[in-house]
Amino acid sequence: MKVCCRAPGKTIWFGEHFVVKGIPAIASSVDLYVRTYVEPCKDDKIKFWSKSLEKGFIYGEKEPDEKLLPFKRILDLISNRYGELPSMKITIDSDIPISYGLGSSAASSISFAAAVLKYIGEEPTTALIKELSMEAEKIVHGKPSGIDTAISLHGGFIYYLGPHDIRPLNAKWIDEYTLLVIGTGITRNTGLVVRKVLERYERFPTIMKRIYDAAKEISLIAKSLTTIGEWDKIGELMNINHGLLVSIGVAIPETERIIHNSLRLGALGAKISGAGLGGIVIVLSRKKDKDIIVNGLMSFSNEIIEVKPGVPGLECSVKN
Ligand code: MEV
Repeated sequence: MKVCCRAPGKTIWFGEHFVVKGIPAIASSVDLYVRTYVEPCKDDKIKFWSKSLEKGFIYGEKEPDEKLLPFKRILDLISNRYGELPSMKITIDSDIPISYGLGSSAASSISFAAAVLKYIGEEPTTALIKELSMEAEKIVHGKPSGIDTAISLHGGFIYYLGPHDIRPLNAKWIDEYTLLVIGTGITRNTGLVVRKVLERYERFPTIMKRIYDAAKEISLIAKSLTTIGEWDKIGELMNINHGLLVSIGVAIPETERIIHNSLRLGALGAKISGAGLGGIVIVLSRKKDKDIIVNGLMSFSNEIIEVKPGVPGLECSVKN
């Protein structure tokens, strides 16, 4: 038997960081994937290999590299629940750049947990996958809001109010528009960036509260605009949301150069997506303006990807 599970990456359109304090956020999946394959292993072992990290481990033998600890954690949790695991060869492969803000760690945990569960004959229910991947995410992010896990698992567009209140958004994506993901080339640790923002909140709570209230209002308005496909206005809201992200301290010259130039070249909206302090910028534009924007951004980034938002979440296939 060979199992393959794939989970998509994500972009946060509105509300990153604010969501950590309970403000609603809007996210969509994108058509970049992490795929986990599980098949029989000839030796009597559980072998894991990550193609993108070029690292692996044999479960139960010496402690894996730090970057692979989330996968070991998931295997521990599954074997605690279902007893000793059979031998298997697990391989993970990813289109999603790591530590960028595209949700690679959540998509990895989700596809990994689902594939292992399927292989041992257990149903990867939404509740179980969420629980396992959140435990793995804690190793990477400290105290995640859960939005990355939610969007990769559910796919589409979501209005996210917390792990227990995830509302699918019936977004009306129109093909006349396009979404670009622009890498800054700078990777960072989400947990550390989240902590920095929370420290600013503690230093200036009265000011920060107003910024968070404005973020809430943006998400509320954007929610109805996505369902009626008012993408020009959504672009404008992205710009306002970015202003708030600058205020909370997650912008750097590299993100600002990309954003200012995208807008100068005709984009409707451009903002940091994810934790910031590097990572990615998302740019919403009309398709007809895409080439001019992409050409103009080439001197600021060598990672420009056109993505399709709102693709389905976790999907698995089994071949006997
Ligand atoms: C990271 O993709 C989004 C943050 O809001 C952190 C989180 O929600 O866990 C920065």
